[in-house]
Amino acid sequence: MHSEQNIDLTPFNTLALPGKAARYQKITTQTQLTAAELPAGKRFILGGGSNLVLNGDFDGLILHMAIPGKRLLREDAEAWYIEAGAGENWHDFVQWTLAQGWPGLENLSLIPGTVGAAPIQNIGAYGLEVAERFHSLTAWDFEKQTFLTVDRSTCRFAYRDSLFKQEGWHLSGRMAITSVVFRLPKVWLANHRYADVAQELAAQSITTPTPQDIAKAIIAIRQRKLPDPAITPNAGSFFHNPLVDRSIAEKLGADYPALPRYPQPDGRVKLAAGWLIEQAGWKGKSLGPVGMYEKQALVLVNHGGATGADVRRTMAAVQADVKMRFGIEFTPEPIFL
Ligand code: FAD
Ligand code: EPU
Repeated sequence: MHSEQNIDLTPFNTLALPGKAARYQKITTQTQLTAAELPAGKRFILGGGSNLVLNGDFDGLILHMAIPGKRLLREDAEAWYIEAGAGENWHDFVQWTLAQGWPGLENLSLIPGTVGAAPIQNIGAYGLEVAERFHSLTAWDFEKQTFLTVDRSTCRFAYRDSLFKQEGWHLSGRMAITSVVFRLPKVWLANHRYADVAQELAAQSITTPTPQDIAKAIIAIRQRKLPDPAITPNAGSFFHNPLVDRSIAEKLGADYPALPRYPQPDGRVKLAAGWLIEQAGWKGKSLGPVGMYEKQALVLVNHGGATGADVRRTMAAVQADVKMRFGIEFTPEPIFL
């Protein structure tokens, strides 16, 4: 099993940024990772490329995780334990669990990417983070040359964060997640507190939604608001919603009463980055080929022909304007390669 050389990565990132990989290998089985002929050196573990900013050519090895498989691993009185290969498409996996009668992931419908990447930034949407349904994962450790099982507490999940997002982790390409186990409680509680979801269900006159009703509502909301990467290349939200001290949120709230603020259990307050970007005048505005989406200002879009440098230029301009106007620093969400 040999790697290919000089592979164009444009089709492998949803922002459609250009760049070539010196070497590329598709990984469809665990044993390919342990294979002795896998070249040593700089490597990057790639899933669906939906949270990635390519800075140009990559002078290393891309390992494209495509390990398939999904099954009920076991069940006990309280929960189903479902295992999926890292290369499974996330949305298809979620819909499959629902079809099997194992609800619990419906709020995360239509998030692009793979199962293996879901724990990396602890994907979240519409009132649920994957950490709440995560049981454990298996990863190949290139340094120790062994498979590791990592449980939930070890992952240090937080808002759009985990152990795997720590400094240097992704660029070191130290571990490749090969499979993930989810724990889906048998007692299912509908989670439709998020305002958009509640409104969508109300509009359809649904008062006691099934898991499928919630999935459908969320799919409809997302299709309305978010650009389809196949048509308008993007990487979803480009910045984290900033978490600030309560005193800062109160001060901003006094100046801008319409600013959406979400108090967190730890006392901090989450601010809506999309609102701040819109108020800073960036909704639907572009700098060269890269702009902020006209229907959701938190989503950075490639209008065609953009490079990683174009993305960084628009990113920096938005960050500077928001900082100048509101004093808030934005952290980018995607991984820069
Ligand atoms: P990639 O972009 O390929 O990789 C992301 C990171 O994960 C990289 O550091 C990579 O090295 C690492 N990685 C990937 N696979 C593995 C593996 N098997 N082992 C080790 N490391 C790995 N995110 C949300 O949280 N909520 C949303 O609602 C949401 N909506 C989105 C909407 C759109 C339109 C788009 C384009 C993106 C959205 N995202 C959202 C971001 C994205 O979908 C998630 O971050 C997703 O988990 C990325 O998966 P991926 O397979 O594409 O990962
Ligand atoms: N808003 C504006 N203008 C905009 C965009 C948003 O005023 O242009 C306001 C909205 O009116 C709303 C608030 O900001 O009051 C929040 O907006 P929305 O519900 O659209 O969600 P978001 O905070 O912009 C977050 C996640 C999304 C996730 C949705 C739904 C982050 C960084 N983003 O977006 O995740 O799908 O909530 O839960 O946390 C992603 O991470 O890539 C992603 C898409």
